[in-house]
Formats: sequence, C-alpha cells, structure tokens
Amino acid sequence: MPETKISINTKEIPFQERYKLLIGSIVPRPIGFVSTISPKGIYNLAPFSFFNGVCSEPMTVLFCPAIRGSDGQEKDTLKNIKATKEFVVNIVSEEIAEKMNQCSAEYPYGVDEFKESGLTPEKAKIVKPPLVKEAKINMECKLLNLVEIGNKPGGGTVVIGEVVYFHAREDVCQNGKIILSKLKPVARLGGTDYARVTDIFSLPRPTVKIPVGENPNNK
Ligand SMILES: Cc1cc2nc3c(=O)[nH]c(=O)nc-3n(C[C@H](O)[C@H](O)[C@H](O)COP(=O)(O)O)c2cc1C
Repeated sequence: MPETKISINTKEIPFQERYKLLIGSIVPRPIGFVSTISPKGIYNLAPFSFFNGVCSEPMTVLFCPAIRGSDGQEKDTLKNIKATKEFVVNIVSEEIAEKMNQCSAEYPYGVDEFKESGLTPEKAKIVKPPLVKEAKINMECKLLNLVEIGNKPGGGTVVIGEVVYFHAREDVCQNGKIILSKLKPVARLGGTDYARVTDIFSLPRPTVKIPVGENPNNK
C-alpha cells in the first residue's frame, strides 16, 4: 500500500482536470433533477449532481449549473430560474435513472425534456414549473439567492432555493421519515457511473462526557 501522495497545485492544471478530480473525489453525489419553466411557458428538465440540501430554517437546497463547455453560455435551467425565480427539485430513483440521463442531453433552448424523455409533468401546488410525476419526492422551490462563481467554461452559478412545498409518495414518507428502501435513490459517481444506496451501516453518535462545571457551553 503506497503511502506517498500526489500533490497538485490546482492553479497549474486546466479546469477539465480539476473537474475530473472533483467528480471522482466527491462521491457519491445526490442528483437534483430540476424542472423549470421558460417565460414563454415551455418546460425544461435537467439533472445536477453538484446538489445538496443546506438548511432547514428556512428549508433550503442548492445546486450549480455550470457554464456550457460547448458554447460558453448559461444552461437553460439557469436562464429560466433567472427569469421566473422558481424551480422544482425532483429526486431520482432507480426506476427513472435512464430517463433522467436522457434529459442531460444538450437540447436547444425551448425543447421540453419532459416530452423527449417521456416523463410526466404534474401541476405543482405553488410554483409554475411542474413536478416530475414519476419521481417519488418533489420539492417546490422559490429562488433565494444566486452566487456566480465564474462566467467562463469551468465556472457556474450556485442556485439557492427555499423549499416551500414538499411532496413524497405515501410509501416513501412514513411518520415524517423517508424510507430509503422505498425511495431507491440513485447517486452519481465519476464519469458515467452511478450507484445504488444498498450497502448501509450505522454509527451511533458518540456523546462527549465533560465533567459538570467544565462544559464551556454552560458558561
Ligand atoms: C447525473 C448528472 C449530473 C449532472 N450534474 C451537473 C451539474 O451538477 N452541473 C451542471 O452544470 N451540469 C450537470 N450535468 C449536465 C446537465 O444535466 C446538462 O448539461 C443538461 O443539458 C443541462 O440542461 P439545461 O441546459 O436544459 O439546463 C449532469 C448530468 C448528469 C447526467
């Protein structure tokens, strides 16, 4: 087992190499499958694995559409969110993984990926973009903040949204708890690889015993 490490000054490598290091190292990544609507009312649907939940007061998620490598333009999802300030994050289960992947193709602006993939738009409660009916969890979001990290290929904009409505299929959410075995989420790895969440182990949270009177939290 080699113990030496390769150390890289990230300023000395091209962004494509940095990208490979990021997506190979930060694994597995959850996938936010984001539906939006254009000002003309056309639906858009695309997956993003630079995605996570961030806070619960307010309930917030974030994801990062990069600048498109092919033409240096913003992705359609970001264009729509800038215009309408709303989006829906749908969670990808094994059953819809292939259709999700189909939605990642570089369709021209104005092409509805619901139609291209055969997924079904379902009316949301509050926001204009639709839910993906086949997704077992949907989060209706209102835009809170955009943080531009860079506007050239390799760059992107972090989109932060408040989850104003949460939907889950009845069998997936029981007594407020998400049932993993029913959700069957899919995660993204490096390259074109994906993972199921099936090899699970638990670690009970340790408690720190500080003698009474010495706990800085009590001072
Ligand atoms: C599983 C998966 C995860 C992806 N994650 C991202 C991501 O985090 N950021 C990004 O810019 N593109 C990501 N992509 C690529 C976009 O889905 C793709 O560029 C898509 O065409 C964007 O669509 P839009 O222009 O309609 O917004 C991902 C693709 C796949 C298949």
